[in-house]
Formats: sequence, structure tokens, C-alpha cells
Amino acid sequence: MASLSSPHSFTSCMLFLFFLYLSCFFNNLNAKHDIANNHKHQHRHKHTQNPPSNPRLYRAFLALQAWKHVIYSDPKNTTSNWIGPSVCNYTGIYCAPSLDDPKQTVVAGIDLNHADIAGFLPEELGLLCDLSLLHLNSNRFCGILPTTFTNLTLLYELDLSNNRFVGPFPSVVLSLPSLTYLDLRYNEFEGPLPPQLFNKPFDAFFLNSNRFTSSIPRNLGQSKASVMVFANNKFGGCLPESIVNFADTLEELLLINTSLSGCLPQQVGFLYKLRVLDFSFNNIVGPIPYSLAGLSHLEQLNLGHNMMSGIVPMGVCELPNLENFTFSYNFFCEEEGICKNLTSKRIVFDDRDNCLPEKPRQRSKKECSDNLERPVDCFELCCIEDGFGKNVTAGSVAIPPAAMPVSAPIVAPSFP
Ligand SMILES: *[C@@H]1O[C@H](CO)[C@@H](O)[C@H](O)[C@H]1NC(C)=O
Ligand SMILES: *[C@@H]1O[C@H](CO)[C@@H](O)[C@H](O)[C@H]1NC(C)=O
Ligand SMILES: *[C@@H]1O[C@H](CO)[C@@H](O)[C@H](O)[C@H]1NC(C)=O
Ligand SMILES: *[C@@H]1O[C@H](CO)[C@@H](O)[C@H](O)[C@H]1NC(C)=O
Ligand SMILES: *[C@@H]1O[C@H](CO)[C@@H](O)[C@H](O)[C@H]1NC(C)=O
Ligand SMILES: *[C@@H]1O[C@H](CO)[C@@H](O)[C@H](O)[C@H]1NC(C)=O
Ligand SMILES: *[C@@H]1O[C@H](CO)[C@@H](O)[C@H](O)[C@H]1NC(C)=O
Repeated sequence: MASLSSPHSFTSCMLFLFFLYLSCFFNNLNAKHDIANNHKHQHRHKHTQNPPSNPRLYRAFLALQAWKHVIYSDPKNTTSNWIGPSVCNYTGIYCAPSLDDPKQTVVAGIDLNHADIAGFLPEELGLLCDLSLLHLNSNRFCGILPTTFTNLTLLYELDLSNNRFVGPFPSVVLSLPSLTYLDLRYNEFEGPLPPQLFNKPFDAFFLNSNRFTSSIPRNLGQSKASVMVFANNKFGGCLPESIVNFADTLEELLLINTSLSGCLPQQVGFLYKLRVLDFSFNNIVGPIPYSLAGLSHLEQLNLGHNMMSGIVPMGVCELPNLENFTFSYNFFCEEEGICKNLTSKRIVFDDRDNCLPEKPRQRSKKECSDNLERPVDCFELCCIEDGFGKNVTAGSVAIPPAAMPVSAPIVAPSFP
């Protein structure tokens, strides 16, 4: 499934970067160790509760001890060696030379992925102001992010996925100037998304499987995101035309099961770098925009489980990199040209439960004619998205037909 496979390539890339980063840590650490060990030998007779002499490591020590104090279950004993001042030796804690003063060792990364720890994030974590990476995937942390996170000005990757965090969107992340990768999926966050989120220069955000509710703001700013995954939230509203602002970077857009309605704007077809596009399990109506024929890198296209209708356009079926095209559970009534026989193009497809007269496993004649009696006029269909209302009404306000950009990127430039 696209939703599972797509973050993978991204993750492996990030992992690679992470290891590169760690190997940097370790190279630097080896050098540091010699100094640190000599230092320790001299002080061996002193008891081990001496605080670290480096003030930044001392602050990290305070932060990690406060954290350990609010961990109430650690079934894999991950934090059992979080004792004493040598914080760089704690499991999951990674030290590196400070960016502003390479002579000082600081805590730069925390990786407690899959530790199954239950507990909270205490305010004292704000003392870890040298932190670049915080990976807490697959634990049982609950509660909210402390506001002291604003102190983590170097934080670059924040992965809180698959925990039990609750409450509104943790707006404190919007104040982090270095944040590039935000993963909040599989938590219990709820309520509206702050519109500023879409204007942050994040490379990737994963918000799927929470309880976010607001529609996507109509005036999206310039984003640098290459991956946006919003599946399984109750957004509502339409996909705004301003999604085109993401064209220069967006490679994966997954909006599965997000209560989207209205028609797909033709601007989706101008996201010329897309490899994965998945709108399945929504209430989208209207046709497949012909502009999708411009998505020359597209590999996975899933429009299944909507209420779309009209023709499946040949231009989409002829996309050079298309591997898997799902449009089942809609009301399409005609497949143009090669779309009739995607097998001949070795494209995996699913066209079940439409109104395609020559295909097996289609909807009943009655269902199809009932749907035909309710024609969709995308230009008349208006989404109420001001503020964060979520509603779709037909006809009340006429919006002008979307203007076609002068030079639609039909042939996408190649990118590395
Ligand atoms: C094709 O895509 C559908 C929908 O995302 C998915 O369920 C299916 O497993 C995919 N098939 C292959 C062979 O990738
Ligand atoms: C964790 O430590 C406790 C007490 O020292 C021990 O009983 C338990 O077996 C350890 N668990 C693991 C997974 O090492
Ligand atoms: C920290 O780890 C290093 C390398 O594994 C080891 O030599 C050193 O004794 C450890 N320090 C403490 C205080 O445990
Ligand atoms: C924020 O970091 C500074 C050091 O840069 C530290 O002195 C201060 O106590 C931290 N604030 C909080 C709330 O942790
Ligand atoms: C859609 O998301 C809701 C939560 O918002 C979830 O309960 C439901 O099972 C999801 N449906 C599908 C088909 O995944
Ligand atoms: C689809 O194309 C394949 C190979 O080109 C061919 O064998 C098959 O008969 C075609 N199926 C239909 C329904 O035309
Ligand atoms: C949407 O608008 C209709 C008509 O104005 C109203 O009856 C309905 O309650 C609204 N739904 C929501 C979720 O606001």
C-alpha cells in the first residue's frame, strides 16, 4: 500500500543521513574519549555522582534525570543505565561536539525508538538546547509537549510517532527554527491544524492517524515539503488550488480518509514531481482533471472509494512511470483508449465498482443512473473554508473557473 511503502524510501534516506550523522558523532567521540578517559582516571577515587564539569552536559544530566523520574514503565530496561554524570554513556543518548564550540561535547541526539517506555516529557527537556534529533517512535509517552521545547532551537528531526500524546496540535513545534522533519503520526492529537504549519519549511510531515479536524487552509504558502501524509484524520473541505505552491518539492501526497469533498483542482496536475498521489476513501466528486497527464514521475495513483465520475482519461493511463492505478468504488462511466486495457501496459489496476459498461464487477444500472441524475458542476461547488469551518455547499457562491498557468509543466524536468 502506498501509505506504508512511501514513507519507507524516505525513512531509509533519513536513516542513512542519521547514520552518517552518528558516524560523525562517533569519530568525534573517539577523539573525545581519550581526553575524557584520562580525565576520569584522575578522578576515579571520587564518587561517581560528581556532576559533569561541562555546563551543557550538566544541564543535559539534569534534564535526563528529570525525565527518568517521570518514566513509570521501561520494560526493556533502556534507561536503567541512566545513572551518574556520564550522560554520553546513557543508552539512546548521543553526544557530539557542539556546533558553536567544537571543544565542548554536548548531547546532540536522543534515539529511544521502539523502547516501549511509558511516561511523560518533563519541562526540563528544555535544558537540552543542543539537541538536533529526538526520536521517540513506538513508545508509550503520553500527555503534551512541554512549552519549554521552544528552547530546542537546533532541533532538526522530531519523531513522536506511535505514542499516546494528546491535546491540540503541539504549536510549540512551529517555533523551532531548525525543524525539518516532523512525524506526529499515530497519536491522539486532536482539533484544528494551525495554518502556519503549511508554511513551515519542513521537508516532510506525517500527521496521519490522529484526530485533527480542520480543513486544509485555502491560501497555502510556499512549502518545501517533499512528503505530506495526512491519512485518517477528519479534515473535511476541499483540496485548495494553492496546493500548486508545493510543486517544486512535493513527491508524495497522501490524503487517504480525510473527509475531503468537492472536486480535485486541476492544480494537482501541476505537482510535477509527484511519485505517489493517494486521495482514496474521501467524498471527492467530479472528474479526474486532465492535467494529471502532466505527472510524468507518478508511480502510484489511488482515487478509490470516492464519488468521482466521468471519463478515465487516456493521458493518465499513458503516464510513463505509472505502476499502480486504483480507481475502484467511484462512478466512472468510460475508460478512454489504453485505459480499457491497462494489463497491456503492465499497470496494476483496480477499476471495480464503477459504471463501466464493458467491465465486470460494476455497480448496478440503478446506482449509476441515480448518480448521473446528480451532475456535478465543479465551478458551482464551493467550499466554505474561511476560518476553519468545514462544509461544502452547492451553488451559493460562484467561484471563477481556475485559470490555467501559462506554462503548465507537462514535461517535468528531471531531478536528481
Ligand atoms: C496498488 O495500489 C493499491 C491501493 O493503494 C494497493 O492496495 C495495492 O496493494 C497495490 N498493488 C501493488 C501490486 O502494488
Ligand atoms: C530489566 O531489569 C529487571 C530488574 O533488574 C529484570 O528483572 C528484567 O529481566 C530486565 N528486563 C530485560 C528485558 O532485560
Ligand atoms: C563510558 O563508556 C566508555 C566506553 O564504553 C567507558 O570506557 C567508560 O568507562 C564509561 N564511563 C562510565 C562512567 O561508565
Ligand atoms: C533554555 O536553555 C538555556 C540555555 O541555553 C537554559 O539556561 C534555560 O534554563 C533553558 N530554559 C528552559 C526552560 O529549560
Ligand atoms: C478513517 O479514519 C477514521 C478515523 O478518522 C477511522 O476510524 C476509520 O477506520 C478510517 N477508515 C478507513 C477506511 O481506513
Ligand atoms: C489486453 O492486452 C493484452 C496484451 O496486449 C491482450 O492479450 C488482451 O487480450 C487485451 N485484453 C482486452 C480485453 O482487450
Ligand atoms: C453545512 O451546511 C449545511 C447547510 O448550510 C448545514 O445544515 C450543516 O449543518 C453544515 N454542516 C457542518 C458540519 O457545519
